[in-house]
Amino acid sequence: MESYFVDWFSVIVRWLHLITGIAWIGASLHFVWLDNSLEEPDESKKAQGIKGDLWSIHGGGIYNFNKYALAPPDWPSVLHWSKWEAYMTWITGTLMMVAVYYLQSQSYLVGSDKWIADPKVAIAASVGYLLSGLLVYEALVRSPLRHQTSLFAALLAAFIGLQCWLATKLFSDRASFLHVGALMGTIMAGNVFLGIIPAQKKFVAAIQAGQDPDPAPAAFAKQRSTHNNYFTLPVLFCMISNHYPFLYGHTYNWVILISIIAITAYARHFFNLRHRGVVDYSILIKAFIAFVLLAIWLGVERYEQEQAFLEMSMADGAAFTLINTHCAVCHSQTPTQPGFDAPPAGMLMDDQHVIEQSVSQMLTAVQTDYMPLGNLTGMTDDERTKLISWLEKKANP
Ligand code: HEC
Repeated sequence: MESYFVDWFSVIVRWLHLITGIAWIGASLHFVWLDNSLEEPDESKKAQGIKGDLWSIHGGGIYNFNKYALAPPDWPSVLHWSKWEAYMTWITGTLMMVAVYYLQSQSYLVGSDKWIADPKVAIAASVGYLLSGLLVYEALVRSPLRHQTSLFAALLAAFIGLQCWLATKLFSDRASFLHVGALMGTIMAGNVFLGIIPAQKKFVAAIQAGQDPDPAPAAFAKQRSTHNNYFTLPVLFCMISNHYPFLYGHTYNWVILISIIAITAYARHFFNLRHRGVVDYSILIKAFIAFVLLAIWLGVERYEQEQAFLEMSMADGAAFTLINTHCAVCHSQTPTQPGFDAPPAGMLMDDQHVIEQSVSQMLTAVQTDYMPLGNLTGMTDDERTKLISWLEKKANP
C-alpha cells in the first residue's frame, strides 16, 4: 500500500513541476521576446517616459505594451511580479529529486563503475554537488570578471562542462544528466531569488522614495536574466533526457551532454539576436550541422556494435534463463525482488511470448546498463554481452 501513496505523490509533484515550469519558462521567453522586440515609441509616449512599445494580438484582444525608461508618472495600484513560478518550479523539482533519487538512491542514484557505491554517500554527494555548483556560480557572477563578457562566457561554459563530466563520474548515468539540469535550474532559481528580485525591490524602493534608482543592480539583474535565458533550452533537454538511455547510457555521455548543451545554447543565441533585428541564419545552420555530426558519430558506433553482436550467438533457452534470473525477479506479476509488488513500468518478462514482443525496449535497457535496475541482480559483463547479442538478433531477425 505504501508504494500506492508514493505513486500518487509522484504524479502530483511531477505534474505541478511541469505546470509551474511551463509558467516560469513561458513568462521568461515572453519577456525576453517582448524586451527585444520593442519599437521606438512616438513623441507623446516619449514625453511620458516610455522608451519602447509593442502591439500584439492574443486571444481575440489587442494589447499595447509600454516599457518605461524608469518609472511611470503615476505608480500603478497593482504591479505584477513574476517570481512564484520560479520558486515553485524549484521546490517541486527538489521534492521530485528527493522522491526519485534520494528515497530510491540504491536503484536510481548509484551507478555501477562510478566513484560512489554507497547510496547514503551518493545522496550527500548529490546535495554537495548542487550546493557547491550554486556557490561557485554565485562567486563567479559576483566577481569583477562578469564585466568581461567573452571571458565570463568562456568561464561559465568551462564550469558547466566540468559539472557535466563530474556528474557522470559521481552518479548513475540516468541521474547524471538530471543533476546537470537540476544544477542549472537551481542556478536559475537562485538568479531570481538572489539577484533579480532584490534588484527589482531596490529599484521600486528608490522610485517610491523619490530618488533616482541606482542603475548598477538593474544591470546586474539583466545579466543574470540573460544567463537564465541561455540555460533554458539545455535545462529542458536535461529534464527529458530520462527518456533517452541511448544518450545518457553512452560511454562518453558527458561529451554528448556538453555537445547538446552547447548546441542548444548557441541556437538560443540566434533567437536572441533575431528579436533584436539581427537575423544570422548561419548560427542555426552551424547548430544543425553540429547536431548531425553528433548523430553520425553515435550512429556509426551503434552500427559497428550491432555487427559485432550479430556474430555471437546464444541459445534461446540460455537467454530465457538469464532473463529469468536478472529481469523477471522484478518484471513479473508477482516480483520476488524485495520492495517490488507489481511489475515495474508494467513490463512482464516471465513469459517467452511477452518477452518476444518487447525485445527492442529490453535491448535498449540492457545495452545502456539501465537494466537490471541498479544492477541489483549482479549481472556480469559477460552475461550482459551475451544477452545483448541475443536480443539484437531477436530485434533484427
Ligand atoms: C530490481 C528490479 C528490476 C530488475 C531486476 C529489472 N528491472 Fe527493468 N525496470 C525496473 C523499474 C523500477 C522500471 C521502471 C523504471 C522507470 O520508471 O524509469 C523498469 C523499467 C524497465 C523498462 C522500461 C524502460 C523504459 O524505457 O521506460 C525496460 C525495457 C526494462 N525495465 C527492462 C529490463 C530488463 C531487460 C531487465 C533484465 C535484464 C530488467 N528490466 C531488470 C526494475 C527492474
